[in-house]
Amino acid sequence: MEQSPETTADGIFTAAQAQRGEGLFDQHCARCHSIEEFTGRAFNTIWAGTPAAALYLRIANTMPMDQPGSLGTEQSTALMAHILASNGMPTGEKPLAGDLEWLSSILIAQR
Ligand code: HEC
Repeated sequence: MEQSPETTADGIFTAAQAQRGEGLFDQHCARCHSIEEFTGRAFNTIWAGTPAAALYLRIANTMPMDQPGSLGTEQSTALMAHILASNGMPTGEKPLAGDLEWLSSILIAQR
């Protein structure tokens, strides 16, 4: 039986997705944020140990601050993949999906 992922350290997004997210970050986020805000200690303090769904909803529902809700599921998951990759999380075979029930079962790991 295939082991199901439990944390963001279990390869829950693809490399292509993270790469797409990097472009989206430059396009939609970089005028207010730098990726450093979402990496290392700054990221861990807020997000480590919380369900991946919390970060997904924060991005999908409240960002960009001046156009909340304007990102679709594909953009939000790609942005999340970029943030996770920037925190040293490994890539996997399956793209990250915007399934809230599933995302609620995945914890954000610390690196
Ligand atoms: C117009 C400015 C603006 C844009 C564009 C913007 N944000 Fe934000 N963002 C903010 C502000 C201001 C805060 C902190 C205030 C708050 O808590 O609501 C914030 C908070 C956040 C947080 C929570 C705090 C943290 O450090 O984890 C996340 C995650 C986030 N933004 C992600 C994004 C992403 C991803 C994008 C691009 C899709 C984006 N933001 C675009 C202004 C912006």
